[in-house]
Amino acid sequence: MSGPSTADWSRVRLHVVTGKGGTGKSTVAASLALALASHGKQVLLCEAEGRQGIARMFDVDPLPYAERRIATGLTHGDRPPGVVHALHIDPESALLEYLAMYYKLGRAGRALDRFGVIEFATTIAPGVRDVLLTGKVFEAVQRNSRNKAAIQYDAVVLDAPPTGRITQFLNVNDELAGLAKVGPVKTQADTVMTLFRSPRTTVHLVTVLEEMPVQETADGITDLTTAGLPVGAVIVNQVRSRDIASDDLEAALTGRLDTAELTDDLKEVGVDLDDSLVDGLVAEAHDHAVRRALEDAQRAVVAELGRPVYELPRLPGGVDLGGLYELAATLKQQGLA
Ligand SMILES: Nc1ncnc2c1ncn2[C@@H]1O[C@H](COP(=O)(O)OP(=O)(O)O)[C@@H](O)[C@H]1O
Ligand SMILES: [Mg+2]
Repeated sequence: MSGPSTADWSRVRLHVVTGKGGTGKSTVAASLALALASHGKQVLLCEAEGRQGIARMFDVDPLPYAERRIATGLTHGDRPPGVVHALHIDPESALLEYLAMYYKLGRAGRALDRFGVIEFATTIAPGVRDVLLTGKVFEAVQRNSRNKAAIQYDAVVLDAPPTGRITQFLNVNDELAGLAKVGPVKTQADTVMTLFRSPRTTVHLVTVLEEMPVQETADGITDLTTAGLPVGAVIVNQVRSRDIASDDLEAALTGRLDTAELTDDLKEVGVDLDDSLVDGLVAEAHDHAVRRALEDAQRAVVAELGRPVYELPRLPGGVDLGGLYELAATLKQQGLA
């Protein structure tokens, strides 16, 4: 079971959020960024291969390759909130920035772009993409005070690739270090790996209470651990409300709901139903009870994963901006931020 966790996340500077696609990775990353941005903190929320998911969630124009102030953080207590900034990292822009920074290739870099060289370099080898994406994340986390124009963030939240790809993604610099063996490329790759394997980084896994995503979460934890990467929390998203008493659930599950009693109860609150509508309600109650039983079984599996667990409710109307703050407050209450 979840509940306020005693885990201490205060040393973490980079929160990587992964999960099976569709479980709510982007939603959780955004909520976590809002939650971390309380008490005047500056937080960067970045997406590495999203399709402008951040812009959609915050209802703003598509993000450029530049850090933008996107929202005020969660208000918590009487201290002023902080700020969430957003960054959409695409590998082409990251490569151009890199060339400009290290080789002063400003205009020449753009010429390379026109000739298709940049696209070639970033699509030919998926590994190159990942080196560029992780390199930019590293820069945002490690930014030092000498970079006067740039904001120094208290925390960076990465809406990361899905569970199936996350270990390879975070480990690409390990491979690169092995290939380069010596020299500046190896040194840089080693430095990135040092951050990713340190207690300043953590990888959270988002799941829903269904068999496949929970199994993927278990596999992801094994892969990350084997690679020496720090596993954070399991965040169970889209949890159904649990406000029905267990004996009612049991009755619904086994088809022993008292329809006469149900009809009377509804009458009492002024709803007059015919038999077919009552049967429909009973069938719905049965479906709900079946799903609840499956969720409870998966909740037990999640508890066995040995990680701190946080739970977020399924918001009935879907997730709008208000919903993100609601989820952020829940994460804060449970102690993830
Ligand atoms: N707690 C929640 N309650 C209701 N809807 C949710 C919740 N979390 C996510 N969703 C919805 O589920 C869909 C997938 O979420 P998203 O964060 O985009 O997933 P992912 O990034 O893992 O693909 C979106 O439509 C989102 O609004
Ligand atoms: Mg997403």
